[in-house]
Amino acid sequence: MRTGSKCLLGSSIVLVLLGSCFGAFYEDFSADWGGENILLNEGVNGVDLRLTTNTGARFASRNSYLFGAFSVNMKLIAGNSAGTACSFYLTSYGDSHDEIDFEFLGNVSGQPYVLHTNVFGHGKGEREQRMFLWFDPTADFHNYSVIWNHRHVTWYVDNTPIRVFRNLESKYPNTYLNTEAQVVSGSIFDASTWATRGGLIPIDWNSAPFIVKFRDFSFNACHVVNNDVTNCKKQNARNWWEAKNLDRASIARMRSVTKKYRFYDYCTDKVRNPTPPAECRYNNL
Ligand SMILES: *[C@@H]1O[C@H](CO)[C@@H](O)[C@H](O)[C@H]1NC(C)=O
Ligand SMILES: *[C@@H]1O[C@H](CO)[C@@H](O)[C@H](O)[C@H]1NC(C)=O
Repeated sequence: MRTGSKCLLGSSIVLVLLGSCFGAFYEDFSADWGGENILLNEGVNGVDLRLTTNTGARFASRNSYLFGAFSVNMKLIAGNSAGTACSFYLTSYGDSHDEIDFEFLGNVSGQPYVLHTNVFGHGKGEREQRMFLWFDPTADFHNYSVIWNHRHVTWYVDNTPIRVFRNLESKYPNTYLNTEAQVVSGSIFDASTWATRGGLIPIDWNSAPFIVKFRDFSFNACHVVNNDVTNCKKQNARNWWEAKNLDRASIARMRSVTKKYRFYDYCTDKVRNPTPPAECRYNNL
């Protein structure tokens, strides 16, 4: 990320990087996998990821962050995308890693995409939710974002919250994502064995290449410098994402979309979780 003076707000320790500070793609991100299928679109601060019979692709931010607001506009694979998956996610590395996921599961032409979300805290995941979207995500760009602060992680689709995972450290220690810096990634990959109708419909390679478009990356976040998380761990009221809370109107919007469009929730999956996991009743706002 460029850190020219216009990009620095606040102290030099807690760097707040604005979307407008993004430089050339490879200054901000590295190609993690399938570099040949990462196609730059610099004019719009964006990139296309392609899935071919050779490989999918993945990028990751060079900087890592502990708390912040992360957003991107994405346009998903048009036509027959069955068996493919695309993602926008945050992750740390190592055995007890943290992760915040948006995963988009493709479908045959005319059938709906599924948005799959998950969250890992201290290496514990298995907190999947799935929903349909209220628009066709392949027709246009839509805004997918995460606010991750000391109180909660909230996933948004076009500014409508669709999921909350609250910080319950005081009740259940070592469950929240509050110690590890995460990088921001995007990917496209072959998920034939599980994505579409549970794996019933694999990729039809006759429809390849598959292309997902990302643009307008915007990260306003606490940038961890030299692996020192001390400053980001502190709750700094000057960071606007810390103040971001769910008001009644947003909760009402979240309820109405989840009621209509969410069709799977690990919390209510009696086969996997005969007793709902402890956090469920707090996150079901
Ligand atoms: C997505 O929406 C948020 C909230 O309005 C906004 O701050 C952000 O800039 C938008 N992101 C993109 C990539 O347009
Ligand atoms: C694909 O469409 C089918 C039929 O409408 C639906 O049951 C399924 O949830 C859709 N999405 C995926 C990813 O399987």
